[in-house]
Amino acid sequence: GHGPTPHMEKWSFAGMFGTYDKAQLQRGFRVYREVCSACHSLSRLRIGNLADEGGPGFSEGQVKALAAEYQIKDFNDKGEPIQRPGFPSDNFPKIFANEDAAAAVHGKAPPDLSVIAKARSYSRGFPFFLLDMLPGVAYQEHGPDYIHALLNGYTKPDDTKWNEYFPGNQIAMPKPLSDDQVDYTDGSPKTVEQYSRDVAAFLMWAAEPKLEERKRTGLNALIFLFIFAGLLYFTKKKIWADAH
Ligand code: HEM
Repeated sequence: GHGPTPHMEKWSFAGMFGTYDKAQLQRGFRVYREVCSACHSLSRLRIGNLADEGGPGFSEGQVKALAAEYQIKDFNDKGEPIQRPGFPSDNFPKIFANEDAAAAVHGKAPPDLSVIAKARSYSRGFPFFLLDMLPGVAYQEHGPDYIHALLNGYTKPDDTKWNEYFPGNQIAMPKPLSDDQVDYTDGSPKTVEQYSRDVAAFLMWAAEPKLEERKRTGLNALIFLFIFAGLLYFTKKKIWADAH
């Protein structure tokens, strides 16, 4: 069965005017890199995406330096397999060769986190699930809510594999976060609560890097429809002005 319904959190990217909080995405990436990346790949993302418009806002220089810290599998001129430092155009490397290798280490394979924020959901129950069927109104933050709840869901201190929010409660992922584990330089609290919120936001961006553009387009479409409706109204009045 399912665990309790995750709490609906406040996210900067929620709603019609939602945008990502750059500083939060940068902190979230730091948590991913220093903690989650020990087990989870992010292989559908290019390292250079971190400098894209609407993302964490790293500079080209920062991304180039970061890419060079990764070892990428490639082939040399003779077709022999080699490892070389990464470029921004490389994807984040896979951590395990395949699912079996990952499962052998961890009991179950840690899923790639590239789209996990869109792949996990929960039902909000009556009557909200009715609203969630309507485009434009539908709540879209189930994924980050779930990730946040999951990372805070190790509520039995003597059982590190018991998770309140994981379906079935027995999770192969040992509690990954603890307070003071990751250094923050912007004064944000170094707590599990803050880390989990930031990494959930980062994973939302990874799964939906064009969110801001999409919301802007939707808003422009609404404005256009509103003006167009007004024009139609006055056109209709003019055309029918002489009708008796
Ligand atoms: C599963 C996130 C760190 C090992 C998962 C899932 C998420 C997640 C969202 C999917 C849960 C589901 O299927 O509903 C994270 C984040 C981390 C992190 C955000 C960093 C803060 C780690 C670490 C390890 C690990 C460090 C290894 C020591 C696993 C494993 C699973 C898993 C083995 C599969 C669990 C199962 O299906 O029973 N993780 N994880 N994770 N993670 Fe992590």
